[in-house]
Formats: sequence, C-alpha cells, structure tokens
Amino acid sequence: MAGLRGQFSSKLGFILAAAGSAVGIGNLVGFPVMASKNGGAAFLIIYLAFVALVCFPVMVGEIAMGRASRKNPVGAFSDLSNGNMWWRNVGRLAVITPFMISVFYTVITAWIVVYMVEALLGNLDELASPDAFARYSSSPVMFAYLVPLLALVFYILSGGVRDGIEKAARILMPTLVVMLVLLASFVLTLENAGEGVAYYLVPDFSRIDSSVVNAAMNQAFFSLSLGMGILITYGSYFSRRDKIIYSTTFVASTDTAVAFTAGLLILPAIFAMNPGISPDELSDSSIGLIFSYLPQIFLEMETILGYAGASVVATVFFVLVFFAALTSLVSITEIPISYMVDEIPFHRRQALIVMAGFLSVFVVLATLSFGMADWLTSFLSYGGVQKSFFDLISDVFYETVLPLVGFTVCVFCAYRWRRSGFAREVARGDEPYLGSRLEKYIGFSLSTFIPVILLAVFANNVAQIFFAYNLLGF
Ligand code: PHE
Repeated sequence: MAGLRGQFSSKLGFILAAAGSAVGIGNLVGFPVMASKNGGAAFLIIYLAFVALVCFPVMVGEIAMGRASRKNPVGAFSDLSNGNMWWRNVGRLAVITPFMISVFYTVITAWIVVYMVEALLGNLDELASPDAFARYSSSPVMFAYLVPLLALVFYILSGGVRDGIEKAARILMPTLVVMLVLLASFVLTLENAGEGVAYYLVPDFSRIDSSVVNAAMNQAFFSLSLGMGILITYGSYFSRRDKIIYSTTFVASTDTAVAFTAGLLILPAIFAMNPGISPDELSDSSIGLIFSYLPQIFLEMETILGYAGASVVATVFFVLVFFAALTSLVSITEIPISYMVDEIPFHRRQALIVMAGFLSVFVVLATLSFGMADWLTSFLSYGGVQKSFFDLISDVFYETVLPLVGFTVCVFCAYRWRRSGFAREVARGDEPYLGSRLEKYIGFSLSTFIPVILLAVFANNVAQIFFAYNLLGF
C-alpha cells in the first residue's frame, strides 16, 4: 500500500502544511485572550518555555513516529511496537480523539463562516448585537453554512497529500500571514493602540497561579496540534532526506509568532476603541471574544472608518480566522482517512466517503445541541454544570484526552520504541543529531519530566471539569 500513500513534495510543503495545522483559532483568538487576562508578557514567558522545553520534544517524537512507520497513528504505534495489542489500542485513541475534535472544530469553523459572510454582506451591526451569537448558533441556517464548508474540506482532501493538503496550505498560509501583518499594522496606527501594546507586553507576575500555568500548557499543546495524531500522520508523508529537527523548529516558531502577532492585533484594537478598559472586563472564553466582543469592537471603528470601513476590517479579520481554521480542519480530518487507507485498507475515495458520512452525523448532532434539540442541549450534567453534546465532546477529547495522548507518545518514544530507535529516526538525513546535546535533552526530557507534566495536566483537567476540584491548589 505504501506506493498509494502520498508524500509532501518538499520540506517547504511539509512545513506549510504542518504550520497550517498548527496555526488555528487557538493562535488567533485563544492565545491573545489568555495572554491578556493572565499577566501579558508573564504568560508569554511561561508559554514560550512550555513550547520550547515540553512541546518541542513531543513534536519531534510524533513526527519521527510517523516517518519511521509511514503509517497513521494506529499503524505507527502498532508497527513500532512489533504489533503489540496494547499499543495498538493507544493508537486507536490517537485516531478517535482527532475525529471528535474535528466535530467541534467543524462547528466553530462554520460559525466563523457565518460571521465572515455576514460581515461581507454589510450586516456588522447585526453581528454586534448582544444576542447575535445565540441567534445564529441556534438557527437552522447553520446547516446552509455547514454543507459548503464540509464540501470544501473534502474537496481539498480528495486532492490527496500533495495536490490537496499541501496545495491548499501553499495558497492559504502565505495569504494568512500577509493579511495578519497588514491588519496588525493598521490597528497599531490607531489612537490609543499603544496602551494595548503596553498592556500586552508588560509582565504582571501577580496574575500567575497554578491554573494559569495549567492553561498555558494546555494552550501550547493544542496550538501546536499535539496529541491529535496529526503530526504522526503528517510525519508519515515527510521525506527521509529532510531534517525533522529543522522542520519542527520552523513549525513551532511560526505557530508562536502568529499567536504573538495576533495579540498585537487584538489588544490594540480593543484599547483603541475602549481606552482605559480593564482586562477583567474582557470575555473569558475565545468563543465569547470572537463572536460577541470583537464584532462590537469592529462596529465601534465606524466612528473613525465609517460603516463600510469597519465592515471591511471585520471581513478581513474573519477571512483570516477562516483560513487558519480551514487548514487546521483539513489536517485533523485527514487522520481517520489515513487510518482507513492504511489499516482496512480502503481506497482514498472510499475512506473520504465514510469519513464524510461519520463527520456529518456527529456535526449535525453537535450543531443541534445549541438550542435546536433540547435533549442534545441539556445532554448531561457533571462537575455541577449542565452540559450539551458539544460541551461533552470538547470536555472529554479536547480538554482531557489530548494531554493523555501526549503522555502516551512520550512513554512510547522513551521506553517502548527506545531511545536508540527513536534517536536514529530523528538522525536520518541529520547525522550530527546523534550524540548532540539536543538528542540528550530530548531523550532525557521525554523519559522524565515531560510525561509527568502531561499526566499532571490530564489529572488536573479531569478533576476540574468532571469534579469541580482544583488539584493544583496553589
Ligand atoms: N492548532 C490548532 C489551533 O491552534 C488546533 C487544531 C489543529 C484544532 C487541528 C483542530 C485541528 O487552533
């Protein structure tokens, strides 16, 4: 079957596709919200430390697993452990998790499409009204947006690795970077923007506590697309001649740079329109910020740009977020497809059809859980809170299972695949890696403190979400 598997055309192809996966809503919205509420540069420093010291080795581990096995996560865990059943099941978790995350990410991306189209049609004032999000998300009109969105995702995936995923990333990623830089440069010229920059960049360590550290770790992990089997799968399309370390560094840096730049766009925009605002007044969640708060900020720009100008800024912003979300959505939808192609084995076309069917069913249920169907809206209750079907998927797979999968990757690379096999794979096409300080650091960290940190994050998330209890009470 190996001949039927795709491969990225070049190092740049892999980097763009992996960066396309990593750069998503998490970078453009999640990071700026967290940084602004949690001490600005103080949060940034903790985040950077997590990216470099904890996430980087896990990224290298995932990519190496994929490249060595040339398989999806189930095949990778299974082949590299000589068919061990237990590890194969761990691999299954690394396919089910991305599937479930793709469900909630599709719904969020569809909301972005709604906002993008409405802003373009000149309905910014509607979007800025307080009940807009509740109204749109609970309206059957959502399905009119979901159908073309899913069609686009599967159209890209039907092109395969090189002519689908890579080609889309080659177009969307550079455009995204240009739009982000232009938008941030524009916002920085507005009056009072400097206050937002100061707020963003002056560290306030008094805001750092255990839950902020936990949130920084979750954010870094999610933002780099770790624990979702994505980098294992993309690693399986990565050439043996290229250097894993180089590409990983590039992807991690791009992802972090985009998150940082997004902060330079969002905070100055908020401060320019509301000088003197206290960050405590900002929305707590990314969803609240992007779908309620930011449309109001854009509408306020009417005073300086006119309604049409404000609508243009809003439209460009939502197009930017849409591009970022689309490349992430494509990457995560590829995982179950590659699983079916390798393991059943299905032709790519069959796998696409089956995945489209499953994804559509779950997406419909998740969309209905925003008020359209009562039983899905009040699906379960735990941790003292009533939860919808959408919440359940997000809590279980995004908040909880993600660090657990990351933990299994570390244990696998460090103990089962053993340091020698793992290090040899990373050193293919990069001989000086063997014996380097970096090799020692990656080997040591993956076998010691990284799995401990990931397990602690997992345990704390379980305690917080399902039992309303904070394990790290300092
Ligand atoms: N890295 C993405 C982000 O920051 C997360 C993601 C990737 C989600 C792939 C889904 C699929 O938003």
